[in-house]
Amino acid sequence: MAIERTFTIIKPGALQRRLVGEIISRFETKDFRILAMKTMRISLEIAEKHYSEHIGKPFYEPLLKYMTSDPAVVMVLERENAIPSLRKLAGATNPDSAEPGTIRGDYGVTTKKNIVHASDSIETAVREISIFFKPEEIINYSDSLKEWY
Ligand code: CMP
Repeated sequence: MAIERTFTIIKPGALQRRLVGEIISRFETKDFRILAMKTMRISLEIAEKHYSEHIGKPFYEPLLKYMTSDPAVVMVLERENAIPSLRKLAGATNPDSAEPGTIRGDYGVTTKKNIVHASDSIETAVREISIFFKPEEIINYSDSLKEWY
């Protein structure tokens, strides 16, 4: 299995609900390594760029409003098979369909006020990471976990 990088947004609703620590803890428990992380107010320009594939959909405007309403935490995560692993951990977009034990299944309330975003392919992850992070903000390091025990 290949080592992959993926991108996630812990969305404004999760930050306001004080769920950031809980969600990051789930990433670490699942062996994701944090390469970059910051709290930011997502500008309209960045939100439009990030969600350009959804232009014209009925939920597009409310989505932009939600994503720019309050700060969010954005992260670059790395592990083997990171893209599908994070999608599985996040659960289905609609929290009613998301399995218990997934982040959306346990904490999601509505699809519109979804609490995390996770890249859906390697190409998407590369594109999304480049929207939110400069290359020098991403810290590359090797996994030395076994040496700490
Ligand atoms: P996210 O994973 O960030 O990617 C696109 C977002 O659009 C999604 O999470 C939801 O927040 C939102 N979204 C997708 N489908 C719908 C829908 N049918 N109704 C409302 N919001 C949606």
